[in-house]
Amino acid sequence: MTGPVSYWVVIPAAGIGSRMRADRPKQYLPLGDRTLIEQTLDCFLCQPGLNGLVVCLAADDPWWPELACAQDSRIVRADGGQERADSVLAGLQALLARGAGMADWVLVHDAARPNLTQEDLYKLLATLADDPVGGLLAVPVRDTLKCADAQGRVASTPDRSRYWQAYTPQMFRLGALRDALTQALGAGAVVTDEASAMEYVGLAPRLVEGRSDNIKVTRPEDLQWLSRHSKPH
Ligand code: C5P
Repeated sequence: MTGPVSYWVVIPAAGIGSRMRADRPKQYLPLGDRTLIEQTLDCFLCQPGLNGLVVCLAADDPWWPELACAQDSRIVRADGGQERADSVLAGLQALLARGAGMADWVLVHDAARPNLTQEDLYKLLATLADDPVGGLLAVPVRDTLKCADAQGRVASTPDRSRYWQAYTPQMFRLGALRDALTQALGAGAVVTDEASAMEYVGLAPRLVEGRSDNIKVTRPEDLQWLSRHSKPH
C-alpha cells in the first residue's frame, strides 16, 4: 500500500437505543466533556484518507444541529430508515450524491462505539486495502458459549474456537455493499450488520482482529465502564 487508503464513512445513528432507558438516543449522552457521537467521529476526522462522512439520523432529530461538528463541511446528514440496514442504504445514496464512486471504500461505524483507536482503524484500512471483498474489525470470543433451549436451559456448548464478535468499522466497496443490502432487504433476510448482507450474496468478509475495548454502548453499565476507561492512544 502506498499512501493513506482513501475512504468514506457512514455512521448509522437513527436508532432509539431503548435498552439505555435514557431521555434521548444513546449517541447524545455525555461521555467526558462531550457527547458519545462526537467522541466517535473524532477518530475519523483526524485521519488523512477521509473523503467525507455521512451521519444517518432520525428525520426529527433535534440534538444533532446543537453539536459543533454539525457545522463541519466534511459531514453531511441523511435521513435514516426503519432498520439499521435502511439507514446505511440511505447513507450510501447520500455519498453517491456527494460524488463517491461505486468502487470507493466505505467504512460503516456505529455512532455509539466511541473507543475506536487510530491503530485499529489503520490496521483495518491497511489489511483490506487490496482485499477483493472487504471485511470488519472483530474479536475472537473469550468466554465459553452456550446455546439455549426455549426454557432457558443449556442445549449445547458450541466449539468457541471459530467464533468471533463482529465489531465496527465494517469496510466494503460502495457499489457491492449497496447491491448486497438491497438484495438482502428485498428478500426479507435478517441484516444486523453490513457483513451479513455481503454473506447473503455469497461473499466471505475478512475478519480483522481488533481491540476488545472498542465496545458499542448498549446498556447503562457500558457508559459507566467507558467513563472509567479513557481511550488508549
Ligand atoms: O440498536 P443498535 O445498537 O444495534 O444500533 C446500532 C446502530 O445502528 C446505532 O448507531 C443506531 O443508531 C443505528 N440504527 C440506525 N437506524 C435504525 C436502527 C439503528 O441508524 N433504524
